[in-house]
Amino acid sequence: SDYPTDIPVVVHVLDHSDATTISDAQVASQIEVLNEDYAGTNADLSKVPAPFAQLVGRPGLSFHLATQDPAGQPTTGITRTRTAAVDFGVDDTMKKRSSGGADAWDTTRYLNLWVCGLRGGVLGYAQFPGGDPATDGVVIATAAFGRRGSAKAPFDLGRTATHEIGHYLNLSHIWGEARVPTCDDTDFVGDTPNQLGPNSGKPRFPKVSCPAAPNGDMFMNYMDYVDDDSMFMFSQQQVERMHAALQLSRSGLGA
Ligand code: ARG
Ligand code: ZN
Ligand code: CA
Repeated sequence: SDYPTDIPVVVHVLDHSDATTISDAQVASQIEVLNEDYAGTNADLSKVPAPFAQLVGRPGLSFHLATQDPAGQPTTGITRTRTAAVDFGVDDTMKKRSSGGADAWDTTRYLNLWVCGLRGGVLGYAQFPGGDPATDGVVIATAAFGRRGSAKAPFDLGRTATHEIGHYLNLSHIWGEARVPTCDDTDFVGDTPNQLGPNSGKPRFPKVSCPAAPNGDMFMNYMDYVDDDSMFMFSQQQVERMHAALQLSRSGLGA
């Protein structure tokens, strides 16, 4: 294909103490989730309600921990940094050694993923394509990373990274980005029905928030805000949008 499909990841683990560190096995559990969700082999994909089943998209992407560092040396694909900060704000300080974080590896070649404490119950955040190369990548809270160890219910199935990498590949929230809820706002994806605003928890199908969408909200989409066990699909046109982002903005991944 004319875009990268096997994406090298460097995981920057920032820990405050031995008690708050993340094991290699927990990192591996997160990579496993990404490989299931982005291949469309996740077991819960079968839970997609019938009216949305024909819209399911499989991105056909895989992820692996980098085996070579930017200098070409062998690596585990995990960096470990002991930091004075117990947690960080949504301000990119975790992405710089000079502010208690870890510097990015060449963001054109690697997907950089920082794991650290995040203040205010934030589960994660991502940078869309086209931003500052020095801060490109995704950040996941220690409490929402992988599916073992420090991961805490209901965000303990690794779906925060699935969601944030969706943003990294140019997907908006499924309801659009308007601050004032409206049924007219769009995520620029044709096959995700318009919905009024974010859903949370474990909604029951059907959940109708906008009258023009007969089957209601596609709340089981990774780009909504529901619990990890309640999100399990991308749509076909979301997949097309991610492939376009890989081709146009992220073509150097894996090079
Ligand atoms: N950026 C969102 C937040 O921090 C992430 C939502 C992820 N949702 C999930 N079920 N893991 O709130
Ligand atoms: Zn989001
Ligand atoms: Ca849509």
